[in-house]
Amino acid sequence: METRIGSTRRVFIFKNIVVKVARVYLYSILRNEIRSFFFYPGLIIRDGREYFVRRRQIKSERPRKLQEYEEYRLEQERLMEMEIPKTKRYEYYGTVAILLMGGIMANYQEWKFYRQTKNVFVMPTHFSLFGLLNIQKRGERITFWDGGEIWNYIHENIENHKQPFCDGHTLSEIDNFCLDDGHLRIVDYGSRGIEPFLKLHGENLFNNFKTPD
Ligand SMILES: Nc1ncnc2c1ncn2[C@@H]1O[C@H](COP(=O)(O)OP(=O)(O)OP(=O)(O)O)[C@@H](O)[C@H]1O
Ligand SMILES: [Mg+2]
Repeated sequence: METRIGSTRRVFIFKNIVVKVARVYLYSILRNEIRSFFFYPGLIIRDGREYFVRRRQIKSERPRKLQEYEEYRLEQERLMEMEIPKTKRYEYYGTVAILLMGGIMANYQEWKFYRQTKNVFVMPTHFSLFGLLNIQKRGERITFWDGGEIWNYIHENIENHKQPFCDGHTLSEIDNFCLDDGHLRIVDYGSRGIEPFLKLHGENLFNNFKTPD
């Protein structure tokens, strides 16, 4: 049995199936909390008034930065011409929510998306234990392409070239795709933007694929 460690799941690869176990970063959260507990008093003693002035500045800037970021995302999503669900706030990186829930939500979404759509381009997810653990069909590793080539293949098969940026990280990483009986399929489809993308293009990406000679 082989094991792969993704950023949100630990994947155990068996003969015909893979088991995807959600990673929960309890230790990192605790470590951050403990560090800041010792770190902040040290800064206050060292910097005195300076420390409080800086904190006030950061606090007053944060809403503006968040708003700018929100507006940027909305504009990008408008250009993508897809209905991307706005509810999955846990996907904001670096938050405690994603450290705790990222793997569970990705697993849960893969199971729900496959069950509801039976999208041909996704590797079938057979079972989910509340997102803590998923059982997915095993695929074969792709050796003839790299990240750039899968990214090109995706672009060649769609008209709106903004759309793959709904999750450029996932769609430009060859390890997120596998071969299943000669067919190309995606194995990592647990993110917010990828659902509408797969609903629009899954069938084309599945049908147009040919193994390079
Ligand atoms: N169905 C599958 N068949 C074969 N290998 C798989 C399958 N699912 C996942 N893997 C392997 O496990 C790795 C990690 O899985 P996955 O990408 O789903 O986890 P992740 O935590 O979302 O990863 P990351 O966020 O780092 O991309 C994949 O890159 C792939 O190599
Ligand atoms: Mg992955």
